[in-house]
Amino acid sequence: MKKISLAMLAAALVAGSMAVSTAANAQDAKAGEKKVSMCLGCHNIPGYQASFPEIYKVPKIAGQSAKYIVSALTAYKKGDRRHPSMRAIATSLSDQDMADVAAYYEQLEKSPAVPVEVGAPPAQVAKLLAQANCASCHGKNFSTPIDPGYPKLAGQYADYLYVALKAYQTEHNPRIGRNNPIMMGMARPFTHPEIKALANYLSSLPSELKSVQLPEFR
Ligand code: HEC
Ligand code: HEC
Repeated sequence: MKKISLAMLAAALVAGSMAVSTAANAQDAKAGEKKVSMCLGCHNIPGYQASFPEIYKVPKIAGQSAKYIVSALTAYKKGDRRHPSMRAIATSLSDQDMADVAAYYEQLEKSPAVPVEVGAPPAQVAKLLAQANCASCHGKNFSTPIDPGYPKLAGQYADYLYVALKAYQTEHNPRIGRNNPIMMGMARPFTHPEIKALANYLSSLPSELKSVQLPEFR
């Protein structure tokens, strides 16, 4: 009897905390909607191009997990990610702003989950993926990272993935580069053509990421 009531109590506690966190998320997303006006001109125009440090498409962030979006914004704010315009933008955001805009983008036109299994990569790419065991963190289909603080990569723009991977190889440059100890170690061994092959493959996979065009920008 005592066992049952404890189990029931635990279940009630879990249900309670889930209800609270879902409500908080919806609340954050709603608040976020009012704070993203400064992001829309770049992140909600499909195919919109950035020109620094080279020409590439602004990353898709709709459908990315909120925890990763906050982590990336924090890295720009702290200077661990050194891209100048994203640094300026992230610096203007408080922790609450980041939580709100991240919740907004996570749920923006949410796509159905992609299949767990993806087609086998070309042999050359399979070798590169195996060499660093990329799937062990980013998931077998590259949409199911082991931690929501890690990015979904499947279907992201190839030219952005290429620039991002090169950034993990770049040190001692005040305007270019990313200091992430995990990914610096992962990216360092690869040549640029190898990185390009990885980026092209990841970009070709079924995706949960989008660049969502809003009505006011049509
Ligand atoms: C001037 C165009 C521009 C604006 C405005 C802008 N961004 Fe970005 N954003 C970029 C570019 C370019 C990158 C890629 C930077 C890099 O190479 O690291 C980026 C990267 C990001 C990333 C990292 C994506 C990833 O996959 O790691 C996040 C998250 C992000 N932006 C969120 C926002 C939010 C939230 C806003 C509004 C508060 C915003 N951005 C406003 C251009 C912009
Ligand atoms: C041990 C875990 C781990 C492994 C293995 C790993 N990654 Fe990552 N990856 C991460 C984390 C954590 C981040 C976020 C880093 C940051 O905040 O900049 C990341 C970020 C990335 C990004 C940037 C995405 C974006 O939206 O900006 C790319 C691209 C990437 N990884 C590709 C790869 C590839 C390709 C491999 C294999 C060669 C790999 N990763 C192996 C953990 C891992």
